[in-house]
Amino acid sequence: MTIITGRAKIAAVLGWPIQHSRSPLLHNFWLDRYQIDGAYIPLAVKPEDLRKVIQGMVAAGFKGCNVTIPHKEAAYLCCDRVDEAAKKMQSVNTLWFEPDGTICGTSTDGLGFVASLLDQEVSLKRCKVLILGAGGAARSVVTALSDVGAVITITNRTSSKAKQLINDLDIKANQLNWEDWPNSLEQFDLLVNTTSLGMEGKEDFAFDLTYAHPKLVVTDIVYVPRVTPLLKAAQDKGLKTVEGLGMLLHQARLGFEKWFGVNPTVDQELTEYVASSLRK
Ligand code: ATR
Repeated sequence: MTIITGRAKIAAVLGWPIQHSRSPLLHNFWLDRYQIDGAYIPLAVKPEDLRKVIQGMVAAGFKGCNVTIPHKEAAYLCCDRVDEAAKKMQSVNTLWFEPDGTICGTSTDGLGFVASLLDQEVSLKRCKVLILGAGGAARSVVTALSDVGAVITITNRTSSKAKQLINDLDIKANQLNWEDWPNSLEQFDLLVNTTSLGMEGKEDFAFDLTYAHPKLVVTDIVYVPRVTPLLKAAQDKGLKTVEGLGMLLHQARLGFEKWFGVNPTVDQELTEYVASSLRK
């Protein structure tokens, strides 16, 4: 067990609600693994209180925090300094506080997504990727994939939103009609689901992978259930799959390093530990 002393480094995750967050489990696992004198706590913060809580954390000597739904855009506006990733997204999920009180922020979701694919030896440069969806999650994924030189095609039920995303991010990307993607699948190396289709508690959706190339890699950013209907369909066809849990674990690494000074490792033990909590 990690001992928390008076010198402990403290970080937090802010959300509303917050009780479903797996981040405390994950960060405290690492704190224990690396025997760090520190703690990471969940804070239920109402939207109208976000700014005052962040300022209070700075005053109280916190090292920083993660923010989750619904705070990512509002937290961006609370930062004194943000990087390119955050500017593109107009949102942040990771904040750290400099000793002089400067509030810094970035968005690590895209980085986490790319790291989880690289971890599974999926090479992304010039990789032909089809993205399903054009919501907030798609924005992080598309930005990160574009930065590593993937060739991007986006399809979304509401096609105007895909167009808007491409314009807003100012990237080179193709667009496909939502009805047409199953028949066009053969051209792609990687299929990414960023929609809420297949999420636990949502209605069932049958992903049609009939025309998938045998080398197609399939990934989903949803991680509850761990094997989503899309990943199940891909596995049934013998395709390589990358589960969404990896993105959750990898997106957390940068914050941990900023607050606690160690670049943590994502491995099988951690993956199984967090996955077992998802089953409860
Ligand atoms: P997030 O920020 O988590 O990405 P979001 O912004 O609400 O959430 O985006 C949800 C995505 O899932 C959108 O791309 C949405 O498509 P629309 O833009 O057409 O709404 C997609 N989505 C949700 N339900 C869907 C459904 N039944 N069929 C197809 N796409 C769906």
